[in-house]
Amino acid sequence: MSIKVAVIGMGQMGTHHANNYRKIPQVELYACCEWNDKRRAEVAEEYGCKVFKDYKECLADPEIDAVSIVLPDNMHREAVEYAVKYGKHILLEKPLAKELEDGKALYELTKDYDKVFTVGFLLRYDYRFAAIKEALEKKELGDIIHIYARRNSPIVGPRRYIGASDLSMHVMIHDIDYINWFMGCKPVSVFAKGRSVLLAEHNMKDVIYAIVTYENGAIANLEACWVLPENSPTIIDDRCEIVTTNGVAYVEPCDKGIKFVTPQKILYPDSRHWNYVNGLPQGDLSEEIMGFINCVANGKKPVVNVGEAYLALQVVDAIERSMKEGKEVTL
Ligand SMILES: NC(=O)c1ccc[n+]([C@@H]2O[C@H](COP(=O)([O-])OP(=O)(O)OC[C@H]3O[C@@H](n4cnc5c(N)ncnc54)[C@H](O)[C@@H]3O)[C@@H](O)[C@H]2O)c1
Repeated sequence: MSIKVAVIGMGQMGTHHANNYRKIPQVELYACCEWNDKRRAEVAEEYGCKVFKDYKECLADPEIDAVSIVLPDNMHREAVEYAVKYGKHILLEKPLAKELEDGKALYELTKDYDKVFTVGFLLRYDYRFAAIKEALEKKELGDIIHIYARRNSPIVGPRRYIGASDLSMHVMIHDIDYINWFMGCKPVSVFAKGRSVLLAEHNMKDVIYAIVTYENGAIANLEACWVLPENSPTIIDDRCEIVTTNGVAYVEPCDKGIKFVTPQKILYPDSRHWNYVNGLPQGDLSEEIMGFINCVANGKKPVVNVGEAYLALQVVDAIERSMKEGKEVTL
């Protein structure tokens, strides 16, 4: 018997989720939910599945076993509450919530949930980060002294999220999550500074620098910026360096394994996250969705649990407090 899945929010990421479910033989993409009438009509045509406008109605459909919630960051809480009410298995796109208060409520609601609940931190399914975690666990790299992480991207991103999110919980949270995972101990304090220039009129940050100190004394220096020019050659200019007592591990910037140079432009297309080969999606998002279905079908524990997603949001909250107060803050 197939697992019937619904995708809620058919924007950029919801579309990739739906395309991934379509390629898994054990899964039926049973429904999609989209508020925008034009997009919903396109989805009905393209996927030939049931379509809903209202996610409350969608989640009340007893045929649906599992859902991807792919709504804007500030809408996660209520959608998860309804999904829990109707007993669905849930893959929620990161972050757990935009605000700490909503994240805490979702943590309390789902920590003992008897269905699968996981949050889509896709770098946990990326070979580069998984290989570093394995080397740390095997003690091949010794103890962490410090980590530097950068995640910069073009200004097209924030323009789509005006009013719904900001740089810390939308972008930097990816690095916060895997650094928490690498450290294997609690973050204790944060000092952060940010600037709003090109995005000031929207009350959003252009750039954030944050230094996070961990219980083991190790420090992480995080940098995120999402105001690079629109014609940047890559959608994600990311880098990570982990310096340890026994060496250093690098995740290289811009190295996507492919580069196009033409008279018009230089381009490094994404080859890690949601790239398509022979019309089918591949990359860490695919692995994440396969992992979710494996949990639903075989009762496995998810790679990312709600406690970890909540911890990442606590660091985000400390970054926001530190920027506001202009001093180091504790978690
Ligand atoms: N894992 C990643 O790397 C990654 C990358 C980008 C976005 N995301 C996350 O994915 C989520 C969605 O981001 P996106 O870039 O796809 O945004 P988006 O704006 O492209 O898509 C959101 C969709 O939800 C729809 N929507 C809004 N309100 C709705 C409602 N009440 N009912 C039904 N549909 C509704 C919108 O019309 C839109 O189509 C966010 O939480 C974001 O943080 C994750």
